[in-house]
Amino acid sequence: MSRIPPPMAMLAELTHRCPLACPYCSNPLELEAQERELSTEDWTRVFAEAAELGVLQLHLSGGEPATRRDLTDLVRAAREAGLYTNLITSGIGLTRRRLEELDTAGLDHVQLSLQGMDAELADRIGGYKGGFARKMQVAGWIGEIGFPLTLNAVLHRQNLHQLPRALEMAQEMGARRIEVAIVQFYGWAMKNRAALMPTREQAREAEALVAEARESLKGKLVIDFVPADYHGDYPKRCMNGWGSVGLNIAPDGLVLPCHAARTIPHLEFWTVRDRSLREIWYDNPAFNAYRGDDWMKEPCRSCERKAIDLGGCRCQALAIAGDPAAADPVCVKSPAHAKMRAMAEAFNAEGESAELTYRHYA
Ligand code: SF4
Ligand code: FES
Repeated sequence: MSRIPPPMAMLAELTHRCPLACPYCSNPLELEAQERELSTEDWTRVFAEAAELGVLQLHLSGGEPATRRDLTDLVRAAREAGLYTNLITSGIGLTRRRLEELDTAGLDHVQLSLQGMDAELADRIGGYKGGFARKMQVAGWIGEIGFPLTLNAVLHRQNLHQLPRALEMAQEMGARRIEVAIVQFYGWAMKNRAALMPTREQAREAEALVAEARESLKGKLVIDFVPADYHGDYPKRCMNGWGSVGLNIAPDGLVLPCHAARTIPHLEFWTVRDRSLREIWYDNPAFNAYRGDDWMKEPCRSCERKAIDLGGCRCQALAIAGDPAAADPVCVKSPAHAKMRAMAEAFNAEGESAELTYRHYA
C-alpha cells in the first residue's frame, strides 16, 4: 500500500462562469468555456470516485456554482456518494425555491462571499449593481432554511476599514464562522496588485483586530484569518501541503493540487476524463513533485520551521522568485524576500490612484 494519505477535501470548480467581476479573482487568466465544462454524469462519477478514495468534504465552487442549472442534481449525487457538501457562492442566482431544493437534495453548508459591507462598496468591488441587496436577501433565506453558514470576506486596501462591520454582520446573520482573508495574489488578482494591496499599517491593524475579536467572540464565532502575504515574515502553509490533504478539479476536469498549479510550466496535469481520481492522486508525477520535503532546497531544507509551513506556496515561489522549489518569498530567509518587500512598497505607492481592472466572464 502507498504511504501517501488519501485526500480529505475536494474543491470542485463547477464552472468559471460568474455574474460578478471581482478584481481579486484568483481564477486563471484563461477561463474555461461552458462547452468544456464536465457534464452532470462526469461529476457524478467523480464524486463517487472521490468518496471511494477517502474524500470526506466536497466544496462546490466556481466561478459561481449557481450558474450551473444542474446544481441540485450535483448536490444530490454528492450526498448519495456520502460526501459532506459545502456550497461556496456569492448568492447571485439563488432563489428561495432553489435553496429549498438544495436543502431537500441534502446540501450541508453554505459559504457566502462578501465583497464589501455596504451596498455602495460591495457593488463597486463586485462590479455588479444590486448585488449586495440580493446577497442580503439570500442570507435571510439561508438563515430561515437553517443552513449552517460561513461568511467569506476578501479584504484589501479598499475595504479593510470595514473589517469590524464584517464581524458584526457575521453575528447578525447567525454565521458560525467567518473567513477573514486578506487578498492573495493569484490569477487575475495579479493585475490589481497596486489597487488592492493593503498597506503595511492596514495589514498590522487587521492582525490586531482579529486577535482581539478572537478573544471577545470566543464560543460565539470562529474566525479564520489569512494574513497579508506581501507584508508577512513567514509564509502560509499553502494547501496544507502540496498533494497532502486536498485537491481541486477545474471546470474542464483537470485535477490540480492547488488553484494556481497550472502556472508551473513543467508540470503536466491529468484529467478525470481520461483517468480515475485514484490514479491521478497517487501516480501523477505532478502531484508527487512537491510532496513531503525531498524537493526542498536551502534555506528550507535545513530550516527548523519546515514542518510548520512546508516552505510556503510553490506558485508564489515561482511567481516572485522564479523557481517553484524555492522558499516562498514571504519568508524572511528567502533571498527573494527583499524583492517582495520592495514590490509591496512600490504597489502601495501606486495604490492611491490605481484603477480596478474588473474580471468579466466573456
Ligand atoms: Fe518556511 Fe522555508 Fe522559510 Fe523555513 S526557510 S520558514 S521552511 S519558507
Ligand atoms: Fe499553488 Fe500555493 S497556490 S502551492
